[in-house]
Amino acid sequence: MSNQTIATTAADPTIAAGVSQFLSPVVLGLQALAVNGKQAHWHVRGANFIGVHEFLDTLVANAQAGADEAAERIVALGLPIDARLEAVAAKGAGTGVAAGFSQSADTIRAVVADIDKVIADLDAAIEGLDEIDLSSQDVAIGIKKTIEKDRWFLVAHIAA
Ligand SMILES: [Fe+2]
Repeated sequence: MSNQTIATTAADPTIAAGVSQFLSPVVLGLQALAVNGKQAHWHVRGANFIGVHEFLDTLVANAQAGADEAAERIVALGLPIDARLEAVAAKGAGTGVAAGFSQSADTIRAVVADIDKVIADLDAAIEGLDEIDLSSQDVAIGIKKTIEKDRWFLVAHIAA
């Protein structure tokens, strides 16, 4: 039996650091979106109630799945991520999602503004990771495709 130690990760530490730098903001933004998306789900009122209410749960589920994928990519390369509530709250500060009941058009605008912040972090990740790690860039691209579809589904309710 071999007594060789097994490396924790196959990744180069410099690559892992770059992936953490670009994917960590994505994880935190998506976790914040999941929390504020639930807030929006519970308090939306008015036009297209059922459609918006139910779709917000899809958005939350997709945000959580994306956060999981991005976080586990960082961890797979050997680094931790601090996604405790305090870090998520700092990332989600400034949301337009209301503290209470909200008409659906206002709810949608607020949630879409939060989505756009995540998309900006995804764009930075896609650009930055191009030179660092294509597998991690692929994770960011996949999340972006899903969140842009979700954005369309929400905006379609209020688009002319
Ligand atoms: Fe619900």
